[in-house]
Amino acid sequence: GSISGGCPFHGDAGTRSLLGRTNKDWWPDQLELGILKENGRRADPHDEDFDYAEAFNTVDYKALKADLTALMTDSKEWWPADYGHYGPFMIRMAWHAAGTYRTSDGRGGASSGQQRFAPLNSWPDNGNLDKARRLLWPIKQKYGKNVSWADLFVLAGNVAIESMGGPTFGFGGGRKDVYEPEMVYWGTEEEWVNEGVETRIIPDEGKALETPLAAIQMGLIYVNPEGPGGNPHDDEGMARDMRETFARMAMNDEETVALTAGGHTFGKCHGAVPADQLSGSPESEALELMGFGWATNPEQIEKGHITTSGIEGAWTNTPNHWSENYFRLLFDYDYELVQSPAGANQWQPINQKEEDMAPDARDPSKKVPTMMTTADMQLKRDPEYRKISERFRKDPKAFEDAFARAWFKLTHRDMGPKVRYMGPEVPEEDLIWQDPVPAGTTPSDSDVSAFKSKVLDSGLTVAELVKAAWASASTYRNSDHRGGANGARVRLAPQKDWAVNDPEELSKVLSKLDEIRGDLSMADAIVLAGAAAIEKAAKDGGHTVSVDVTTGRGDATDEQTDAESFEPLEPFADGFRNYLKTKMTVKTEELLVDRAHLLGLSIPEMTALVGGMRALGAVSHHAAHGDRIGVLTDRPGTLSNDFFVNLLDMGTKWKTVEDSGDEEYVGTDRATGKEKWHATRTDLVFGSNSQLRAISEVFAENGGEAKFIETFVSAWTKVMDADRFDIRCAKYHK
Ligand code: HEM
Repeated sequence: GSISGGCPFHGDAGTRSLLGRTNKDWWPDQLELGILKENGRRADPHDEDFDYAEAFNTVDYKALKADLTALMTDSKEWWPADYGHYGPFMIRMAWHAAGTYRTSDGRGGASSGQQRFAPLNSWPDNGNLDKARRLLWPIKQKYGKNVSWADLFVLAGNVAIESMGGPTFGFGGGRKDVYEPEMVYWGTEEEWVNEGVETRIIPDEGKALETPLAAIQMGLIYVNPEGPGGNPHDDEGMARDMRETFARMAMNDEETVALTAGGHTFGKCHGAVPADQLSGSPESEALELMGFGWATNPEQIEKGHITTSGIEGAWTNTPNHWSENYFRLLFDYDYELVQSPAGANQWQPINQKEEDMAPDARDPSKKVPTMMTTADMQLKRDPEYRKISERFRKDPKAFEDAFARAWFKLTHRDMGPKVRYMGPEVPEEDLIWQDPVPAGTTPSDSDVSAFKSKVLDSGLTVAELVKAAWASASTYRNSDHRGGANGARVRLAPQKDWAVNDPEELSKVLSKLDEIRGDLSMADAIVLAGAAAIEKAAKDGGHTVSVDVTTGRGDATDEQTDAESFEPLEPFADGFRNYLKTKMTVKTEELLVDRAHLLGLSIPEMTALVGGMRALGAVSHHAAHGDRIGVLTDRPGTLSNDFFVNLLDMGTKWKTVEDSGDEEYVGTDRATGKEKWHATRTDLVFGSNSQLRAISEVFAENGGEAKFIETFVSAWTKVMDADRFDIRCAKYHK
């Protein structure tokens, strides 16, 4: 609907930064460690070549699961287990670790253990999960570097479900921890979710959920459980918020119902004391609390007087077992609005029979009413969710299967191709959201060189060939390991029709390559053609280079492609091709940096790629002066450092083009006043920004062209091979 159609980074708020709020905004007093990372020093204590996947494969997996199973019922005095079972708590921890994932940039998610760091460790929605992580520490300590926190979070969730009799679909390990907060745009609000803070979606005011965000307010994983902005009477708004945020993390209605109902079959909400009795968040608390926040008073903890969300009570009468009671209680009772002891809005069954009540979390002999949140109520009030809930109630097997699969997807969505999954519990079945690619074959050297000569005789230009290869490979995202050249999905919908790809030109290039490729896969042919073009372009400039291509890519079919799931991968800006769909509230040059980050590039690599692609003439036709903009050379199609030389030439005077919104600039000869070049912000930033200028100088100075070409070629190869997990991970699957 209209709320999901919002243009990314569009709005009335003026220009903003892609970083949004940073940890320094939230915690000005936070100890600053950044200076210890100057000049590329690493924050990660492990060796640079530490191979986590290999380490994980040495683990006694059965023993690890047995240890986790034992932990579930080993209640600790400093944080006693509700109902004698930590399972529900661990499920919530795993779900919140995974639930930060969003489809639009692939960031967030469970794959790097970010929940350990600010801001996530202190988000209100992650309340008291500091204790869940601390409960896991003895197991983390025991298995050491062979089991990452990131894997442990997800596996603890799986073991929790299994140890309470619930269904799972499998587990893949291989999530390598990072040791510092990832810089992710979580929004610009100055306040976290709080009473009265608005939802990010207000359709009446034409307000959409801003891309790339997937939560309805700062500090939440998804939605406000009490209702939009805390209003429990806005059913439509609540269902809208749920639908929108779950869609942003790749979940449809059925998966949303299965996950929420399945999750809430277990455990309880915590709202036994007013929130003003809580201490601050882990990141802001006193040193002696050693990283704990929120509920920190031992006497209250002992009595079970705990507030997390502020809502109080269990969903079912059997909160530490898998059961069909969630839908039964949801449908068999009418509910009335009540307030928890912490003052939160929640729904309570009217005239509840004693046998349907839940045990008290600390005293099984005591019975207390169950509850539903305003979000849970939508599973029967929203017409579409209701149909699914009714079907699941009638068919518990279908519910089990849907829950197990959706949980597997939730916790593995950001791991990329299946070949990256490690361990003995990886499911056989290929799943469409894993973007499967059939194995390719490796062509002979003579086939490869014959093809490359045909390419150069084909009449296609260097720019056309380079653009096609870039279009194919540059969809790759380091965040969730999706996209890339393998599979040649650039020839399928939706990618073949993206404006950034100049569809007509792309289609011409792909048909020609198809005609001459012989036994090569299209995926290999596209990359080899780009390499042939670059080698020729270098030769034309007097440099002999060889662009290595690792062949063996396969071609995916339409049936193997969930086209809709590729839509969020469409670039709204690609500075490497000087493409900008529409002006955004984020500066265009920041979008270049963002894309370079998703491609895993360094500053010199990004700089060399931009300068090189300009020299080759590989720019989008979409922009004004499309074929020339940013191409600061008299010999486009030759690989040279002309872009940098001409950009830094003091003989040129630059001024903004009127009405371009400072997106376009013209460079004139200072002496004659003659127009020489047209360029964008993305071009000029390499002369205007002092750090980028320093790199441009290295490439433009005497002797710099060789360095530039070397950097360009290695960065190009890095992008072409970014998704070759089929090669890099093959050794783990012997
Ligand atoms: C707990 C809301 C989806 C699993 C909670 C709590 C709230 C909540 C308010 C109580 C936290 C506390 O006070 O301790 C929501 C909302 C959802 C959602 C609004 C989506 C619309 C999910 C999903 C799962 C899940 C997808 C897992 C598949 C759990 C579990 C607990 C829990 C197991 C119990 C934790 C414990 O007993 O300590 N949820 N949740 N929830 N949630 Fe959800």
